[in-house]
Amino acid sequence: MSEPRQILVTSALPYANGSIHLGHMVEYVQTDMWVRFQKHRGNQCIYVCADDAHGSAIMLRAEKEGITPEQLIANVQVEHSGDFADFLVEFDNFHSTHAEENRELSSLIYRRLRDAGHIATRSITQYFDPEKQMFLADRFIKGTCPKCGTEDQYGDNCEKCGATYAPTDLKDPKSAISGATPVLKDSQHFFFKLPDFQAMLQGWTRSGTLQDAVANKIAEWLDSGLQEWDISRDAPYFGFEIPDEPGKYFYVWLDAPIGYMASFKNLCARRPELDFDAFWGKDSTAELYHFIGKDIVNFHALFWPAMLEGAGYRKPTGINVHGYLTVNGQKMSKSRGTFIKARTYLDHLSPEYLRYYYAAKLGKGVDDLDLNLEDFVQKVNSDLVGKVVNIASRCAGFIHKGNAGVLVAGNAAPELTDAFLAATPSIAEAYEARDFARAMREIMALADRANAWIADKAPWSLAKQEGKQDEVQAVCAVGINLFRQLIIFLKPVLPLLAADAEAFLNVAPLTWNDHATLLADHQLNEFKPLMTRIDPAKVQAMTDASKEDLAASQTDTGSAASQGNGELAKDPLSAEIDFDTFASVDLRVALILKAEAVDGADKLLRLTLDIGDEQRNVFSGIKSAYPNPAELEGRLTMMIANLKPRKMRFGISEGMVMAAGPGGEEIYLLSPDSGAKPGQRIK
Ligand code: 2FM
Ligand code: ZN
Repeated sequence: MSEPRQILVTSALPYANGSIHLGHMVEYVQTDMWVRFQKHRGNQCIYVCADDAHGSAIMLRAEKEGITPEQLIANVQVEHSGDFADFLVEFDNFHSTHAEENRELSSLIYRRLRDAGHIATRSITQYFDPEKQMFLADRFIKGTCPKCGTEDQYGDNCEKCGATYAPTDLKDPKSAISGATPVLKDSQHFFFKLPDFQAMLQGWTRSGTLQDAVANKIAEWLDSGLQEWDISRDAPYFGFEIPDEPGKYFYVWLDAPIGYMASFKNLCARRPELDFDAFWGKDSTAELYHFIGKDIVNFHALFWPAMLEGAGYRKPTGINVHGYLTVNGQKMSKSRGTFIKARTYLDHLSPEYLRYYYAAKLGKGVDDLDLNLEDFVQKVNSDLVGKVVNIASRCAGFIHKGNAGVLVAGNAAPELTDAFLAATPSIAEAYEARDFARAMREIMALADRANAWIADKAPWSLAKQEGKQDEVQAVCAVGINLFRQLIIFLKPVLPLLAADAEAFLNVAPLTWNDHATLLADHQLNEFKPLMTRIDPAKVQAMTDASKEDLAASQTDTGSAASQGNGELAKDPLSAEIDFDTFASVDLRVALILKAEAVDGADKLLRLTLDIGDEQRNVFSGIKSAYPNPAELEGRLTMMIANLKPRKMRFGISEGMVMAAGPGGEEIYLLSPDSGAKPGQRIK
């Protein structure tokens, strides 16, 4: 036997200002399955993660909620940990980047980089919010696009025409935080001199550390020349102050990956057998893998190895990149109910269904993964319930009835058990290469063979025949042994099913090497159903609940329902309102002057409305019913004119038009009888 490997594995650190959703779960499930596989094989594999707790977004959200950032991140950490645990994602440690270990390591790494000459300083000019007294990141500045003149665009690119520009190019810039007009102000910034590491990165990124597609992308960046990286932010900022530089803070992306080290260091304090330097020291022989999504490759495959090299640490063995999640072939959408939070899923369905489905769809490449909800139900029911669990449920009863639950010795199907044995190295290879889809295909092909063999022997018919009891027992013993093999192969994906199967089989926790043995003359425990079929109604209930999450959320930018008051939208029929409340609603006849699609929004139309004394800009989620929006121009409708203006990603919506119907193509814009005039009040 070869020596157990020492492996340290990380998943990207989730931001501590939002909930985990099924898109995030692709990565955590993928990593967890790989880690469990390594542990199953007897390797020392440590899986660490943490909340990514710093940055202005977290600072501002805490302020909005009236709590300290520390309180916010503590709350979110409880939520995240619960979601991961319930999805059976088993970290050895889930820490936070806002922790003492991380402060020390970040300061140490910075000092080493600085002392080795890899930090430059220079003054840069940036927009500053004079009311909030803070510098504004590009996404906190809005204004009119310098190219096409569209209002309310972010500081770095225009949603309408796609132009990219510097925030200083925006016309009529405003702080998205306070609404104040920002002023230009200079400040000293600190830069990590990434170009110092060009040669090292050229070699490292081509040394088998990256998937080909990723290495090619990085090569483009390397060829076009590396830029120095701005690693500092001015106060106020929620993060760590830069050593010897009061009022200057590390940019969140500087201390985030150091959070991997910090989480491991925090674990070392609890697990004396783990030695920090053995994993992170320059001469470490341990393997180090980071699992990440394709959007953060530059941070992990350029900045991070350069930081590690410059500060005298080892570099990663591999960066494992995955694609994005789509649901039913499209980007996750709040209004379609396919923006599904981890908790909403767990409220309706077992985590193992999704773990299996993700496994069945995850290859080793960076392709996007589609969660097709119909296919999900069909595949889980057919593979796990119909194939795997079915073997045990077909055989267990005969062993209990005919032989008091004792599985007999002997092997009535040597060819079949040999085939299972022969398939093992290939399944292990697929797991090792993160080709979970291939592993699942090969396992299910074995399950098919086992089922076909049992069907051919038909123990249920034999059991009715005189003198065939021995044969029944021999057939069922093979069935249960093959089931046990399948469980060994599936255990990294389905740890709960494996635990229940171990209880039924009356065996110690199974490890990968157990595949080489068979149970013989062995007492089984009572058989209880190991997995139930997915009821499609539960999937529907989950997407319905996700739509409700949307109605309740304050932050959405997607659909008509989101523009109203969250509570009313949630259950519009339940609450009585008094007459005064009704009378306070300013309902008007509106003439649609212009109706147009909104670039980048698949549900929205932008309506320009004439309400007599003024024009209004309203975004309405009715595009699915009016694919040719120009048809609406010249038509009268009704609008709520005194709804508080709502800032959306695409601009400000100044009211709401009224429509009926369940959604999709069935949305009916309301209109007054002919003769009504724009601006007339509805009484
Ligand atoms: O993109 C993100 O969600 C970041 N919070 C990931 C950080 S990963 C690591 F570098 F810390
Ligand atoms: Zn533009």
